[in-house]
Amino acid sequence: MTEDRISLQARDVHFDFDGLRTDWIPGEPFASHLIDVLHLLLPEGERWFVEVFSQALPLVRDEALAEDVRGFIGQEAVHATSHQGALDHLVAAGVDVTRYVEQVEWIFGELLGERGLTGDEARAWLVERVGMIAAIEHFTAVLGSWIIDSPALDGAGADPQMLDMLRWHGAEEVEHRNVAHDLYVHLDGRWLRRVRAMLVTGPALASLWADGTRHLCARDPHLRGTPQRRARVRDYLRAARRGLVPGPWLFARAVLTYLSPRFHPDAHGDTDAAVAYLAVSPAARAAGTGHPAGGTGTGPGTADGTGGAAA
Ligand SMILES: [Fe+2]
Ligand SMILES: [Fe+2]
Repeated sequence: MTEDRISLQARDVHFDFDGLRTDWIPGEPFASHLIDVLHLLLPEGERWFVEVFSQALPLVRDEALAEDVRGFIGQEAVHATSHQGALDHLVAAGVDVTRYVEQVEWIFGELLGERGLTGDEARAWLVERVGMIAAIEHFTAVLGSWIIDSPALDGAGADPQMLDMLRWHGAEEVEHRNVAHDLYVHLDGRWLRRVRAMLVTGPALASLWADGTRHLCARDPHLRGTPQRRARVRDYLRAARRGLVPGPWLFARAVLTYLSPRFHPDAHGDTDAAVAYLAVSPAARAAGTGHPAGGTGTGPGTADGTGGAAA
């Protein structure tokens, strides 16, 4: 557990995607769809986080951590709902994502779902899944840091509503980046198990992401008959070079960092930057739960006024 703690709160945000273009980064359908994969993965994925953490909560013997877990559950539930709104918009825009979403539902509902276990076996499966979520949460924190500082997206004229949704979510990921790791350490903490979880989730996420991007580009009706229908590795590298999507080195560095036995998420990420974004996020402000402008972390969401800044 870290000393500088933020009191995590779920913000009642709303986003209106009516009229959103499928290339919401204008003229950049590949980059738009690469980021859109989040809308395919996260509604199911974050609902799964909520389920697993709700099961783990009664096992927590530390009130501060239990409070963090409750805050985490509240935030992830709103994230899932918000990305579901974006997913519904994609479907309404004529992008048929049925096959991919069914696959995602199978992964989180069946493969990683309940197995009818009891006793020690049930606990071991629960801890295994908390370990996987801790690994995924390292990626979401890294991506969160990236999206709140991605000026190329502003420069490219990315849709402000979508950008705010991604940045509000990213900022909350940075805000709660310690929780899954702290929960895993509290319940088990074995380094080898943590490494194994990363070695399973890292490649699985990379594969799902590449598949999702190809899926969206192939099914976007606006790309019919264009070369952009084929999402290629070189399109990714080009978009990454221009700062429109996170580059491969960001993910490689994230994995290497995570494998260190001394890893703690608190040292990777800038809580002040996250709090500063939440202070100006139109959706968070409309929800009445952004922090006061200035980004000092002294707002109502902080427990101690420090904003829980990284060491
Ligand atoms: Fe989230
Ligand atoms: Fe998260």
